[in-house]
Amino acid sequence: MDPLISGDDGAVELLAAHAHIWEHIFSFHKSMALKCAIEVGIPDAIQKHSKPVTLLELASILAIHPTKAPSLGRLMRLLVHTNFFSMKKSENGEIMFDLTISSQLLLKDHPLSQVAFIFGMLNPIMIDPAHHLSTWLNSEAESPFHVTHGRSIWEHANAISMFNDYFNQAMASDARFVARFFTSNDNKIKGFFEGIKSLVDVGGGDGTMAKAIAEAYPELKCIVLYLPHVVEGLKGNGSNLVYIGGDMFRSIPLADAVLLKWILHDWSDDNCIKILEQCKEAIPDKDHGGKVIIIDIVLDNNADKLKDSITQILFDMQMMSVSIGGKERTEEEWKKLFVSAGFGDYKVLPILGLRSIIEVYPL
Ligand SMILES: C[S@@+](CC[C@H](N)C(=O)[O-])C[C@H]1O[C@@H](n2cnc3c(N)ncnc32)[C@H](O)[C@@H]1O
Repeated sequence: MDPLISGDDGAVELLAAHAHIWEHIFSFHKSMALKCAIEVGIPDAIQKHSKPVTLLELASILAIHPTKAPSLGRLMRLLVHTNFFSMKKSENGEIMFDLTISSQLLLKDHPLSQVAFIFGMLNPIMIDPAHHLSTWLNSEAESPFHVTHGRSIWEHANAISMFNDYFNQAMASDARFVARFFTSNDNKIKGFFEGIKSLVDVGGGDGTMAKAIAEAYPELKCIVLYLPHVVEGLKGNGSNLVYIGGDMFRSIPLADAVLLKWILHDWSDDNCIKILEQCKEAIPDKDHGGKVIIIDIVLDNNADKLKDSITQILFDMQMMSVSIGGKERTEEEWKKLFVSAGFGDYKVLPILGLRSIIEVYPL
């Protein structure tokens, strides 16, 4: 007999292993249920209802096809299970659904809405490359994204304006979320940019992050360095925000500090060193306030924080899928980059949840 299934204990373990495989086969339905919930408008419908809602009320508000109300119930069961909605029984025993803090971030008009980010990341253009990881591993292709789409993500965004819009809106929604921590009065990192006279946001997309910083810190001159084809019609605010089109591999405008939000994880170590060397050219030395501010994941190997680190590891797989040599890095890997690019010391501030702020100082 197969030793794996001998005895009761063996059978229990075997069934658990089998269930483990099934869980991972079907986990993609968590992502798809989340996407569907936003597409049909469940969070906004519950918010508009202004009190917990029954399944039939929800089906009616959403104009779900009458034959599909039970299917909506099954979708809600998963979304309750994954903590996007809460469920309780009313006095007459009816099941009522309500928003959780996670689904508040799924409201389309919420200032910190994650809707655009979810649509950007769960767009088939972004997901299809994951089907080609194995082809990529066995070939000379530059990335799974190349295997699928025949060019890099930036070339694809340049060629397909709808994808470019999805991607930029996704980035802007994340920028709004992160900017809040630097600008809101109730947050301890409010004041982070005080004392800095000028800041260049390298690869700043449509400028959402820089716009928020410029508004909150009127004394700070903000420059957005963006790829010229990424967004059209960008205009500064006439005082402390300007846009400059350019290539970060060639030159970065001079400033006291450089912000690299979600830039270095897109690139290989060699390319990161090139970008960091350009940053070093752009800023004064440490005694004169020069620094690079990186916002990215610092991979956590601490098993106690497994929940966070699995999401960080999933994000690393995302970078493997869509970028050329991009990756999430451990602190040791970050340190190597800084040393190779000729920087002195650095400080990791693990204060942005899954991501950290890393300040890097020139010699
Ligand atoms: C992952 S996005 C991050 C955008 C923004 N920093 C944020 O976090 O919201 C990377 C950005 O780098 C820009 N980018 C890519 N190559 C670039 C280059 N050579 N020079 C300047 N920007 C570049 C892309 O256009 C894109 O806006």
